[in-house]
Amino acid sequence: MSEQPPPIDKQQARRAFERAADTYDDAAVLQRQTGECMLERLDLVKLQPEVVLDIGCGTGVATAALAKRYKKAQVVALDFALPMLHHTRKRGSWLRKPACLCGDAEQLPFRDNSIDLIYSNAAIQWCTDLEGTFREFLRVLRPGGLLMFTTFGLDTLKELRQAWEAVDGHSHVSPFPDMHDVGDALIHARFADPVIDVDRLTLTYGEVSGLMRDLKMIGAHNVTTHRQRGLTGKGRMQAMIKAYEAFRIDGLLPASYEVVYGHAWAPELHSRAKREVSVDELVRSRL
Ligand SMILES: C[S@@+](CC[C@H](N)C(=O)[O-])C[C@H]1O[C@@H](n2cnc3c(N)ncnc32)[C@H](O)[C@@H]1O
Repeated sequence: MSEQPPPIDKQQARRAFERAADTYDDAAVLQRQTGECMLERLDLVKLQPEVVLDIGCGTGVATAALAKRYKKAQVVALDFALPMLHHTRKRGSWLRKPACLCGDAEQLPFRDNSIDLIYSNAAIQWCTDLEGTFREFLRVLRPGGLLMFTTFGLDTLKELRQAWEAVDGHSHVSPFPDMHDVGDALIHARFADPVIDVDRLTLTYGEVSGLMRDLKMIGAHNVTTHRQRGLTGKGRMQAMIKAYEAFRIDGLLPASYEVVYGHAWAPELHSRAKREVSVDELVRSRL
């Protein structure tokens, strides 16, 4: 039996984020909101991390906030799109710059048990294997370490998906997981005490072109391996825009987002060696 192709074309996704690095901040309203909400949730957690990793850091807004919050910690920013990391490096005038690494969330360039806190906002939906990604996160987390993340659930961009499906039978929208599957993936990866909850948000637009422009500006293009190659024909785009009109309420077009918030702990071991760390020591292999 032939293997199913992965649902995300990762190379295509990386290129889209590389191209979007300069425009990302102007359009990432929702991502900023979910990132801030996650930082507020960290207020409730008693953890004094020595090493913090921001996975899929983008332009580094949260990386900077994490560095400010955990003044004594080594903060590391990781993204697979190099131009995003350039922004992260430039951001603010911090006393301590974060270490920036270009790498893949699904194959982290870190030693086992080397990170105390993994923070990841709006990034892991681009990974091809969610459970494998969580296993990788657990590998690098120290016993008792915390993973805190957001991702997007099934109903995200449902209007756009339905409008495209009405035109040509293809969704054109990246596949988002059921929130229950996110929880199951954490459990199967052997995280302890996973907690998942969902927030439903709706952005509104005067025209579909506004939504399409925002998605392009943040690099959230359709990158499924099943997408139709080549340009989306003008006629089909017009047909999709017409189909989207069916969702117009009070003069505005909604774009639904199902934000999935999750956190889980790396199980404690009976004995745990404590040691000093440097970034060189943390990194398994330089990229
Ligand atoms: C929507 S942006 C979120 C950026 C940032 N966390 C924020 O809150 O604004 C997603 C980021 O994840 C990165 N990303 C996506 N998949 C990745 C992967 N497999 N490995 C590393 N970075 C990834 C993208 O390059 C992009 O910068």
